[in-house]
Amino acid sequence: MNIVTLASRKGGAGKSTLTAHLAAAAHQAGHRCLLVDADPQGSLTLWQSLRPGGEPIVKNAARGVDGLLAIAMTEGYDWVFIDTPPTMWVVVSEAIRASTMVLVPARPSLFDLHAVRETVKTAQERAKPYAVVINAAPARRDDREAPVVAHARAHLDRLGIPVWSGQITQRAGFSLALAAGASAPEVDPHSAAAAEIGALWSAVERSVEAITGTKGRSPAERAA
Ligand SMILES: Nc1ncnc2c1ncn2[C@@H]1O[C@H](COP(=O)(O)OP(=O)(O)O)[C@@H](O)[C@H]1O
Ligand SMILES: [Mg+2]
Repeated sequence: MNIVTLASRKGGAGKSTLTAHLAAAAHQAGHRCLLVDADPQGSLTLWQSLRPGGEPIVKNAARGVDGLLAIAMTEGYDWVFIDTPPTMWVVVSEAIRASTMVLVPARPSLFDLHAVRETVKTAQERAKPYAVVINAAPARRDDREAPVVAHARAHLDRLGIPVWSGQITQRAGFSLALAAGASAPEVDPHSAAAAEIGALWSAVERSVEAITGTKGRSPAERAA
């Protein structure tokens, strides 16, 4: 069971937005996917309640994730995505400890980049692979990334912090989709937002494959 936790000390970095989109991508790809809402604000519980069909399943874990993950394992989930609060509460370190990998969303701003360090430290202490995902970035122009994004990459690079090579751009489509209980690719599979989420999901799949050393069976292979 692959467990991906989205964590950052900074509120508004994009944890809930990206957790919902990754879980929807895994679900759309046919995986058995569980969403764990470890934030008492319950953003993803709300989002999921708006979804026709009610999938992926969401479980509330504001009081802890360990027991819940043990049950999820017996229930045969392939992928678990954990959304966390912008704190260093025990539930966050518990989620990080249980993870296959940790994603740290960060806006390309001084405050977000500074807040990354604390989460990175926790991941490092627990020897967990991690990567920053630059979120809500200005759009690329002529296929060149905005100076503020280049600056953020250079900053993280100097700190030796791995960063996903892509970016998630600031797009109303992401918030509008969530407000409708959907993901951006579900609203418009041909949108630029859908392409970015597709690229992030592929990168996560590839990283997890490299970490676990196993190529996860595709839904088609499982059915065979
Ligand atoms: N890439 C994006 N484009 C547009 N709006 C975004 C993007 N990422 C996040 N947001 C918006 O920013 C706000 C904070 O995002 P959220 O995912 O709730 O952050 P967190 O869970 O880290 O606190 C939300 O209103 C969300 O809709
Ligand atoms: Mg949130």
